[in-house]
Amino acid sequence: MIIKLPESVYKYIAAGEVINHPCDAVKELIENSIDAGADKIYIKIKEGGKRKIVVTDNGTGIPYDEVELAVGRYTTSKIKTLDDLLNLKTFGFRGEALHSIATVSKLTIRTSIDNSGIGYEFYFEDGILKEKKPCPHNKGTTCIVEEIFYKFPARRKFLLNKEAETRKIIETFLLYSIANPKISFILENEDEIIYNLEKMENIKDRIVEIYGEEILKEFYEFNQDFKNFSYYIFISKKENLINNPFIKFIFVNQRPIIDKKMTQILNNIYKTPEKYPNYILFLFVPPSEMDVNVHPQKIEVRFSNSLKIYQRIKEDIENKIKERAFLPISEFKIKDLKFEVKKFVKEEIKQLEFGEIPKEEEKIKIDFKNIYQLQKKYIVLILDSGIVIIDQHTAHEKILYEKLKKRNYKSENLLFPLIFNLTSELMRTLLRFQENLEIMGFGISILGRNTISIDRIPGIFKKIEKENFIEILKEIEGEKPKIDIDNLLKVIACKMAVKSGNKLEENEMLNLISELFSLSDPLFCPHGRIIIYEMSIEEIDRKFGR
Ligand SMILES: Nc1ncnc2c1ncn2[C@@H]1O[C@H](COP(=O)(O)OP(=O)(O)OP(=O)(O)O)[C@@H](O)[C@H]1O
Ligand SMILES: [Mg+2]
Repeated sequence: MIIKLPESVYKYIAAGEVINHPCDAVKELIENSIDAGADKIYIKIKEGGKRKIVVTDNGTGIPYDEVELAVGRYTTSKIKTLDDLLNLKTFGFRGEALHSIATVSKLTIRTSIDNSGIGYEFYFEDGILKEKKPCPHNKGTTCIVEEIFYKFPARRKFLLNKEAETRKIIETFLLYSIANPKISFILENEDEIIYNLEKMENIKDRIVEIYGEEILKEFYEFNQDFKNFSYYIFISKKENLINNPFIKFIFVNQRPIIDKKMTQILNNIYKTPEKYPNYILFLFVPPSEMDVNVHPQKIEVRFSNSLKIYQRIKEDIENKIKERAFLPISEFKIKDLKFEVKKFVKEEIKQLEFGEIPKEEEKIKIDFKNIYQLQKKYIVLILDSGIVIIDQHTAHEKILYEKLKKRNYKSENLLFPLIFNLTSELMRTLLRFQENLEIMGFGISILGRNTISIDRIPGIFKKIEKENFIEILKEIEGEKPKIDIDNLLKVIACKMAVKSGNKLEENEMLNLISELFSLSDPLFCPHGRIIIYEMSIEEIDRKFGR
């Protein structure tokens, strides 16, 4: 028996299709701001957007008597007729976004349509207007989305952890900022500005603004006009292919889209297994030749078949790449250098791996009656035969160094990837040594000009703090391009080791001691400092004249 669902049910189902993650709300709000003609969009997020998302623009604002209507379902100012739908020039057209957001969160809209400095604030819960009052606001609109899915515990459960949701928002942010260089975009995460993008003339300048000048050297830049469509692409040169490309953006008429077929074509354009290009592809197709209304989040499009877009773009890019490959390339030096570094690193590692065959560690049995930590610096063991004092930092440094040298560990995924900013200098250092660090077992993604994410670390470390990583980079900043691998191991071991001043639990001390004594030479740290100081009972007796 077929029934018509009551409104109380169907409004949630529809909303579910539009907003699944905080980044979907960010996407919709950015689109609304762009449609409103804003040239400045300021985004703030808390806890990966799960607690709070604020999007402020300087667009047209919403007439006060239309705000409530705007939050209603199927209410839009952007299309009126079916004809408009076939010739879309705006991101929005369903009149669905604000409604969906309001249904799953606490939504506040502040807006002003003039420059009087005064506007109106509207507060919605469950999609229903609860409060309305004047507030200070410049021309434009601020949407505040709080406690997303607070009444939908099951759907809240499907949200990812804070860091992963933050990454999705950053990706959304980058997509829209790349495609709209003439708009200034700011992203603030937990009160820290992580992107502050000024208005730029063109897409290329925006790419440099986000990823830095260097990225352009890695890219070919092609464009081509066909009869009914055109494209513009930045795509890695063959020598710059990587395992995990971090830029994989496709836009149709500046709208970011997901297109599996095109993605596959671009990934395999060089036909190299396991190495892929970064790319940013812009397609320009007359709105009448495509349909964006095939997906609730407007992220898939369908092209009119007659254009044969895929085949023609594929052939054109392949031809252009071939042509370029025969041209003398001025960046040969950079390429060679990179290659040498890579080769060198591999050989060094091999030596370390095979030069000394790792023995199964013989764990010595420790039966200590008493273990103490002295001044959060030393571990003191009281034995029958005397007293042993161990420097906790150098001991741990030595243990880690030996493990790094043996390399019989795995790289492990972090449950919560670490996202943070680096200064431009440290970013340069990272780019120089990224390859070396990855071979050691760190998984590093570059999210933007100064933003990185650490997703994997050598399994011998339980965790990593951003301070540890920054200290490693600072320490290797002055190294030559061919870093001495043994030195890198020492730096990593030193910066990841427990510090003098760290409080250790008894079991941590026990572990540390047992690992230290299972080494063949536990006496000196990699830098040559003494680790263990012993005083036998005889020595103590002598001191007391016994
Ligand atoms: N930041 C904004 N500035 C000005 N007007 C806005 C803004 N956000 C929303 N509006 C108005 O509210 C209406 C409803 O917005 P909503 O996002 O729900 O629908 P839409 O953008 O028309 O379509 P879609 O659901 O596809 O996004 C818009 O058509 C627009 O008139
Ligand atoms: Mg919209």
